[in-house]
Amino acid sequence: EKFTVAVIVGSLRAASLSLKMADFLCNQQYRLLALQIIPINDLSLYNEDRETAQPPRAWQKFRDCIREQDAVLFITPEYNRSVPAALKNAVDIGSAPHGHNVFRNKPAAIISLSPGKMGAFGANHHLRQSLVFLDMPTLQQPEAYIGNSEALFTTAGTMTDGHTRDYLAGFMDAFAGWISRHTQAKPGR
Ligand code: FNR
Repeated sequence: EKFTVAVIVGSLRAASLSLKMADFLCNQQYRLLALQIIPINDLSLYNEDRETAQPPRAWQKFRDCIREQDAVLFITPEYNRSVPAALKNAVDIGSAPHGHNVFRNKPAAIISLSPGKMGAFGANHHLRQSLVFLDMPTLQQPEAYIGNSEALFTTAGTMTDGHTRDYLAGFMDAFAGWISRHTQAKPGR
């Protein structure tokens, strides 16, 4: 049995480099990990007034999806040195209502990427600040700030750079180890 990993992509656009990265990783075969993208595109903006007995369907579906997964991998670009609002919105929706944070205790990792050189360092670390409050044990080393990411993929989504491919393989390996260290043994595992 593998650990299930929810992949949350911080960009909503169809041609997103972050989505290409997510698709690339989802298509790899990992011995211990099964990755699945959980879409955040349909989540309306968080509004506490809508936190009634019947919150929006899309919120409920998102919360249920995260609850079922063993771990979460965030793949995000950087908007104005922080996380895109759509990603922060998904984080907020999953964290609420008070006492029902679906992210709590789930091991996490962050891959940030940018066509620029700094690899979305700012977004990566702003997100980490939220994950501390959500009580998610988040992989610290290795870190993944992927710069120059426009050059990484062919139009078909193949990753061209062997060095980055190897680095990501090591990153995912470390994440698998991190998840097993932070997950209570389950029957059959
Ligand atoms: C950006 N971009 C950007 N890049 C960066 O490295 N640091 C930043 O602070 C910003 N800020 C920013 C703000 C806004 C509103 C937009 C639309 C873009 C550029 C960004 O990295 C680039 O558009 C990426 O390609 C977006 O990620 P996806 O959609 O390709 O995953």
